Amino acid sequence: MDIDDRYQQYLTAGLKLDLTRGKPCPEQLTLSEGLDATIAGDYIAEDGTDTRNYGGILGIPEARRLGGLLMSLDPSSVMAGGNSSLTLMHQFLAWRSQLWQDQTPGVTPKFLCVVPGYDRHFTICEQLGIEMLNVGFDDRGPDMQTIEALVEANDDIRGIWCVPKHSNPTGHCYHPETVARLAELPKRSAGDFIVMWDNAYAVHDLVTNAPPLANVLALATEAGTQDQIAHFASTSKITFAGAGLAFCGLSPRSLKAFETFLVPQMIGFDKVNQLRHGRFFKDATSLKSHMEAHQKILLPKFELVQTKLSDLTRAGLVTRSQPEGGYFVSLDLTRASAKQVIELAKAAGVTLTPAGATFPYGLDPQDKNIRIAPSFPDMMALDQALDVLTCCIVKASTSTGLP
Ligand SMILES: Cc1ncc(COP(=O)(O)O)c(C=O)c1O
Repeated sequence: MDIDDRYQQYLTAGLKLDLTRGKPCPEQLTLSEGLDATIAGDYIAEDGTDTRNYGGILGIPEARRLGGLLMSLDPSSVMAGGNSSLTLMHQFLAWRSQLWQDQTPGVTPKFLCVVPGYDRHFTICEQLGIEMLNVGFDDRGPDMQTIEALVEANDDIRGIWCVPKHSNPTGHCYHPETVARLAELPKRSAGDFIVMWDNAYAVHDLVTNAPPLANVLALATEAGTQDQIAHFASTSKITFAGAGLAFCGLSPRSLKAFETFLVPQMIGFDKVNQLRHGRFFKDATSLKSHMEAHQKILLPKFELVQTKLSDLTRAGLVTRSQPEGGYFVSLDLTRASAKQVIELAKAAGVTLTPAGATFPYGLDPQDKNIRIAPSFPDMMALDQALDVLTCCIVKASTSTGLP
């Protein structure tokens, strides 16, 4: 059957498949059903805090310890927050934006965005009026030479977004030398420069023995830039994506100042949720075995993506990332046709992340990148969705118009 006939078949098959967001699937959520049982009527944290009541913006000790474990930080550097690290990132940058406005009124702050990257980082910048500049990757992570030159030449560049492990969407893990250069980076700026270190996939390995990430805080402390690094992580893809626990890790000075900024907004985060997470993950061993159970569910899905895309790669139609963890596979089409492929897939009932979403302002300058999120659909749906996607890529490579 030729490619147009195959596509026609999909058009009439009434499919309704979704490869958009990196959501845990129901089997993954089931792994954390034991969270509720950890409370069993006992709401008192180990330091005597009644978690049902107001107070304690920094969080309870059990939760701060878990954040420390995830981010390789001392618990005293950790704020345990609510259910979303994105909220903490937004609050953190809202705070810094205020400071930048006070320091240099009327100057538009700029941020470096490693592309392709995480769309919601970019929408935070857009909402806060921070102008975004694209920078690329090489196989060691962000292109440090370009980044260092840009930061040296522009004091109004106020920071950089980093997803240092199993990056969204490319799966990059930053090389230790890249981490060291990022820890030094704030010294190249005459202004207040922040490294936003979003370690969302810190423990989300798909392989055993994934290389460990260098400790950016230890390196920053050596470099004297520790006040310039902001760590973030959450359990959104460890326990419940909608009811997990988020963390922020900062130097003592920054933590105090950020806490002061938050005081008018709240009296404290949800400490009952903090308690159930702290009890559920008592130590590194319980976290490790929990993540191995996630790995078992996710690995076949990621392998299926690789299998399904290998023919297209061999045919020179795409290049693809082969991540060792995280939630995404990044696909680059050889021909500038991401918009067309996504439209074709949509018409055939397969929803993909909108073209351009992995770039600031939704603008992929080459119209080539597609982000695939294989975690949520079951194997059968994923298989079908990938068949449709590959069909659309082949069709777009041979035609110019939509059906
Ligand atoms: C890099 C990255 N950071 C943060 C998040 C969302 O984190 P949270 O659910 O804690 O807000 C995601 C979700 O896809 C992500 O990929």
